[in-house]
Amino acid sequence: MKLDPSPSAGAQEPLIIESMGDADVKDVLRIEQQSFSTTWPSNAFYQELHDNKLAHYFVGRYGGRTVAYGGIWVILEDSHVTTIAVSPDARGRKYGEMMLLHLLDQAITRGASWMTLEVRESNTVAQALYRKYGFTTVSTRKGYYSDNNENALVMWAGNLKSEIYKNRLCALRAALRG
Ligand SMILES: CC(C)(COP(=O)(O)OP(=O)(O)OC[C@H]1O[C@@H](n2cnc3c(N)ncnc32)[C@H](O)[C@@H]1OP(=O)(O)O)[C@@H](O)C(=O)NCCC(=O)NCCS
Repeated sequence: MKLDPSPSAGAQEPLIIESMGDADVKDVLRIEQQSFSTTWPSNAFYQELHDNKLAHYFVGRYGGRTVAYGGIWVILEDSHVTTIAVSPDARGRKYGEMMLLHLLDQAITRGASWMTLEVRESNTVAQALYRKYGFTTVSTRKGYYSDNNENALVMWAGNLKSEIYKNRLCALRAALRG
């Protein structure tokens, strides 16, 4: 299915977000290969789905087609975004944001009070998304990405269970609904 490249303004079609299963890995790998210069092999996803009790992975579907995925680890009050991506032909339609909101909801429901992630210094699109959700840069990991020795920014959002953050999510969720 080809997505409309210029969706009309206003409310976006909601993504149907579900837990990732083995049957999703093929589609996820396709998006992964189109999105990252270094990619996870399929067995990394299978291990996360089956062997890592701290891991929670999700796919987003639109019109029956998988267009997004994301994952978190939740360790008591700490949560970590391990990956998030949207199919290139479906970007700019708020699906990345819907997936991040889902990851935050899942982390908070499972007890997390803060969330961290690493992002390439050059990835200003993802950084803008994270800042919108209250993430700030707390440190830099020099040469973290082995393919080009690029630095990673470590971003952090805290007090996820506070009234202030709940209100922030509520406003962002309402804006997404249009
Ligand atoms: C990062 C990514 C997931 C964003 O998904 P998306 O569906 O295209 O983004 P959305 O339409 O949900 O946009 C949400 C926010 O992201 C930011 N954003 C999205 N596209 C942007 C662009 N072209 N320029 C600047 N900011 C942008 C904005 O903050 C935007 O909010 P706004 O519309 O209110 O300004 C997507 O670009 C992607 O898959 N990139 C490749 C993989 C990747 O880099 N993953 C992150 C690894 S840390």
